[in-house]
Amino acid sequence: MKILVVGSGGREHALAWKIAQSERIQMVYVAPGNGGTALDARLKNVAITDPAALAQFARDEHITLTVVGPETPLAAGIVNLFRERGLKIFGPTREAAQLESSKDFAKSFMQRHGIPTAEYQTFADSAAAHAYLDQRGAPIVIKADGLAAGKGVVVAMSSDEAHAAVDMMLSDNKLGDAGARVVIEEFLEGEEASFIVMVDGKNILPLATSQDHKRLLDQDLGPNTGGMGAYSPAPIVTPALHARVMREIIIPTVHGMAKDGIPFTGFLYAGLMIDKAGNAKTLEFNCRMGDPETQPIMARLKTDLLSVFEHAVAGTLDTVELEWDRRTALGVVMAAAGYPDAPRKGDAITGIPAETVECVTFHAGTTHIDGKLQTSGGRVLCVVGLGDSVKMAQKQAYETIEQIGFDGAQYRSDIGWRAIKRPA
Ligand SMILES: Nc1ncnc2c1ncn2[C@@H]1O[C@H](COP(=O)(O)OP(=O)(O)OP(=O)(O)O)[C@@H](O)[C@H]1O
Ligand SMILES: [Mg+2]
Repeated sequence: MKILVVGSGGREHALAWKIAQSERIQMVYVAPGNGGTALDARLKNVAITDPAALAQFARDEHITLTVVGPETPLAAGIVNLFRERGLKIFGPTREAAQLESSKDFAKSFMQRHGIPTAEYQTFADSAAAHAYLDQRGAPIVIKADGLAAGKGVVVAMSSDEAHAAVDMMLSDNKLGDAGARVVIEEFLEGEEASFIVMVDGKNILPLATSQDHKRLLDQDLGPNTGGMGAYSPAPIVTPALHARVMREIIIPTVHGMAKDGIPFTGFLYAGLMIDKAGNAKTLEFNCRMGDPETQPIMARLKTDLLSVFEHAVAGTLDTVELEWDRRTALGVVMAAAGYPDAPRKGDAITGIPAETVECVTFHAGTTHIDGKLQTSGGRVLCVVGLGDSVKMAQKQAYETIEQIGFDGAQYRSDIGWRAIKRPA
């Protein structure tokens, strides 16, 4: 069988790597892929990104099934397009992807269906937004309605910052259409976790739990990034909390979407804020896998992923039971100099060791030029270690990182610290 994975990041490398382990796989195409997917003999990069051209490729190459990694093609309707042409694809339609592509859609959906989330109001008019800020005070959170590549959320600790964020989005149009409307919401305190499930329209299959680190620097300081590391499982998501999140958030979301006539298919990712008392609220939905959460999650998955996707597009996820490696997987992102604002490209990468049962390195911003591996994007690699404890997985990952080199490499030295600190 031939499978197509759409995307070029570490998430897509990990998905393609796992799918390719299936005995029934002839080839996994990755469009456009990266320097790591180019190296693996079971994977083949194809230089296509346009959705219509991808659909044509899928038809011409007799692709059994397509899996979409990133949100942009989903929000643009790649799933609608493939389905109109009778091609099998796993992901949400353009309409269902609004759970991620419009914060206002997600918030009003949650309010309508009684799903726990921060209080909010949406504004297009800046005077009204400023007046609301004056009434609510700080801390407060301002979010661009549309997709803004991780730059659309301002957690304002002072009222000056809050007003400046509204000006930036509504008056100065710094985020374009994405910022033409803003959601202003209550500031929530607690610890974050990622809750990711697969959905086939009605059945829900939870993946292993995970937690990521969004800040650039150790101790969760510095600017927000796409994610500097992640691990699975996340001990904060106890079995009791897991059951509650399913009951209060995930099931009502999937049922609510179906009831509203927009059945959800694809990966559904709820970003959670868990308070001290163990109550979870939904910070956001993403309609795709997380990056870097995918890398440790795929490193732990034992079940044949191809068969899982086949059930997902057939609407029979209720018959699937996933089997997980009992070890912890912990992924550390190595980012380029200048990341996240202005990542430098073209630094030579050396020393990536071959995969072992205890460590695997997934590529993101890498490419081959004249046969040499170079950096080509902000997040360059995600090195995943596996071990019987978070500490042991962490040790594996960092020992491997010491062998890898490129000029200006930035990585955190404390990925997993919350899980390690947590009382047993
Ligand atoms: N109501 C809130 N209270 C406190 N912090 C918040 C709140 N909403 C968002 N945040 C913080 O801002 C981050 C980004 O918010 P959110 O997840 O909504 O944005 P996003 O741009 O969609 O993120 P992602 O790139 O992960 O999809 C969250 O991970 C969290 O740390
Ligand atoms: Mg999001």
